[in-house]
Order: sequence, then structure tokens, then C-alpha cells
Amino acid sequence: MEVERYERYWMWAATAMLVLFTGAIVATALTGAAHPPSHTETVDPETLTIRGEFASPGVVTGPDGRVTVSMRAEFYVFQPTVVRVPAGRPVRFRITSADVIHGFQVVGTNLNLTVAPGYVSEATVRFDTPGEYLVVCNEYCGLAHHLMQGKIIVEPAR
Ligand code: CUA
Repeated sequence: MEVERYERYWMWAATAMLVLFTGAIVATALTGAAHPPSHTETVDPETLTIRGEFASPGVVTGPDGRVTVSMRAEFYVFQPTVVRVPAGRPVRFRITSADVIHGFQVVGTNLNLTVAPGYVSEATVRFDTPGEYLVVCNEYCGLAHHLMQGKIIVEPAR
């Protein structure tokens, strides 16, 4: 059976891509290179509410003016539920989960983190527009998932 020349080229190209992509999956699995996308920092979910940064979550302004928001996501709330941050300055969010995987999405912005127990998800953002921002959980986490909300109040810079 005669195979067209271009047909043959494309068959080889497809085979090469298949080998390449399968190789990438195998290499990732064997080298343990797969990790949570935002930040690789672990935390013990068993002691979250007892000691450490996440036992008393909230907004902390450092001596250098850096703003850090620590937050716990748990059935079916964000702790704290409402946070106030300044506009026009970098704000670092550090979030972890006390139970299952939750989401942390700030509606109308590109801040969107997966929050997994045992890991601290981190992102630094700057809100330029003061106002109220809705936070929603976008990972199905249980019966009251749809009620899991928070609020970020961005206050005008002083
Ligand atoms: Cu938490 Cu859905």
C-alpha cells in the first residue's frame, strides 16, 4: 500500500509528539517535579487552630509597611471573613485549609488560589481601586460550598 509523502511526514510528526509528551509525563512523575503551583510551603493542618500564624489569622502590617493577610479556609468560611487592606500597595495573601481543598477567588481580579490542607498558598497583589471585593470558594468542598464567601474591603490610600 502506497502512503502519500505528506501523509507519512505527518504520521511521523504525530508519533514524535506522542513520545515527547508521554516522556514529559513520565519524567515529571519520576523526578517528583510536580508541586502546588503557587508556593511550596507546608504546614500541619492538625495544629492550625492551636498555634502559629494561622491560629490567629488576620491582617498584619510589618515595620517596613508590608501588608500580609493570613487566612484559614474551612467548612464553610474564610477566617477572617472580612479583611481590610490598603489600596495601591502590595498585599501578600497567605492561605491554608483546615480540612479539605477550598478555592480562594477574588471576584473581578486575577487573584485565584487553590487552598489545600497541608500547604500554604501565597500570592501578592495590589488593589488599585478601593471598594468591596467578593471572595468565593470555587472548589466544591461540601454541602454548603455555595455559601462559602468572604469580603475584602480595599480602603483608599492615606
Ligand atoms: Cu470551600 Cu467550596
